[in-house]
Amino acid sequence: MRVGVTPVVCIDFGNSYTKVGVRWDPELPSDLVKDDALQYDDELYVCIPTAAAVVRRESGDRWFLGTDLVGVREGIPGLQVFRNWKPAFFGGSEEPEVDEVAERYFRWLRTLVDPALREFGPSFSERYVTRITLPAFGPQARSEQRLLGILERAGWRAAAAAPCVSEPVANALGIFTQGRNAVWLPDNAARPRAHTGKMLAGTPLLEVARRRYDNKYSQKMYWTLIVDLGGYTLDFAMLGFDVTSMDMPHGTHNGQRRFETQSRPLGVAALDRHVADALPETARERFVALIDASDQRGLEELHRRVYQRGRDYRLRRGGGVIGGDAVRSCIERFADEAASLTEAFIEQGQYERIDDLVLTGGGMNIPAVRDAIRLSLADISRFKHAWVAATADEVLASHYKRLEPRYVRGATALGGSTVYFDFKGGRDRDR
Ligand SMILES: Nc1ncnc2c1ncn2[C@@H]1O[C@H](COP(=O)(O)OP(=O)(O)OP(=O)(O)O)[C@@H](O)[C@H]1O
Ligand SMILES: [Mg+2]
Repeated sequence: MRVGVTPVVCIDFGNSYTKVGVRWDPELPSDLVKDDALQYDDELYVCIPTAAAVVRRESGDRWFLGTDLVGVREGIPGLQVFRNWKPAFFGGSEEPEVDEVAERYFRWLRTLVDPALREFGPSFSERYVTRITLPAFGPQARSEQRLLGILERAGWRAAAAAPCVSEPVANALGIFTQGRNAVWLPDNAARPRAHTGKMLAGTPLLEVARRRYDNKYSQKMYWTLIVDLGGYTLDFAMLGFDVTSMDMPHGTHNGQRRFETQSRPLGVAALDRHVADALPETARERFVALIDASDQRGLEELHRRVYQRGRDYRLRRGGGVIGGDAVRSCIERFADEAASLTEAFIEQGQYERIDDLVLTGGGMNIPAVRDAIRLSLADISRFKHAWVAATADEVLASHYKRLEPRYVRGATALGGSTVYFDFKGGRDRDR
């Protein structure tokens, strides 16, 4: 019997970029919403700027959302740009302006998403329900209610099951399932369930686990650490797979939790702030202007040149150079901080071995961060290579292995839209 399940759209609400996952059939893989206008992610076309701008005039305000910011001329009178507003939902602040920005942004997001969904059938837009991903910070019922209220006012229909899911959990699901879906209806059961065994079977990471287990190790538990560095948070997920059953981890093993997650407020936007503080005045002003610019392709270029490749970035009109020792030491300090937080997560969980390390999120393209995290785990790591973003033609150092950029940026949205969450009562508490 075929099991009917409502289609789902998952909004991965990223501080820098929102990504949208879609699951239209319970037996077919989830996919990511793509649009040619999304030119910020090295030709994946899935990263939607989480940005808004308003031009305030006496004659009335005019808003620009997401990709429409590209058309806004810099420096026009009354222009106000909103970036990095995600933290306002998790830092306890109640700025009403942020709620208005968010409502306008999410209403605009529907106009981008709905046309892209037509390929799944003319009535898809009327049928799907939505869930949103949020960082795994302490108690968060308030943030969830606030965001769900905004989504509803913006025209989205929240999923009855797990309308909010945690970013590291969704990311881990996306990494291990690559967005596969499968459901089954147990005998005499009223409701179907996610068939996690089928969703996990054969994906590259678990194939590696199985091969290594067969070849070398006699231990039953295979521990994988996923670390995601975004614009706002550093997220951790530790999963202990039982290689003899290969089902979704739950419970504990020798007192260690087999699916543990955490988010910490450290992201690339914080590195930008440290760098800005280290610059001489003129360069600082220009750099801050670049962060708030209506077209963020300049900032993307700067991140790639300075943070990824360690080169200098020359600011226009005699603004000076971003680079040199002061900036390099900011990057090193930031990488050390990311590594210390990783060590603290491992220590809190009392984990004693890591068989695989997966580094996701845009910030993990920064080599200093990758290296610092990998090296900080050296005494308990049992892996030769960590998984990092790389294109097919890129030559990687021997201690790294290629993970497709689609999963590095899109795993949270893909994972959040899988059927795994469809049969949960609320937030993924009962995982
Ligand atoms: N190749 C690269 N080199 C340096 N930085 C990069 C690179 N690619 C992306 N980034 C940076 O990574 C950040 C975005 O990463 P990502 O999309 O994972 O964050 P996010 O999901 O929006 O944030 P969060 O999950 O914290 O809310 C941006 O600051 C972007 O400029
Ligand atoms: Mg993210």
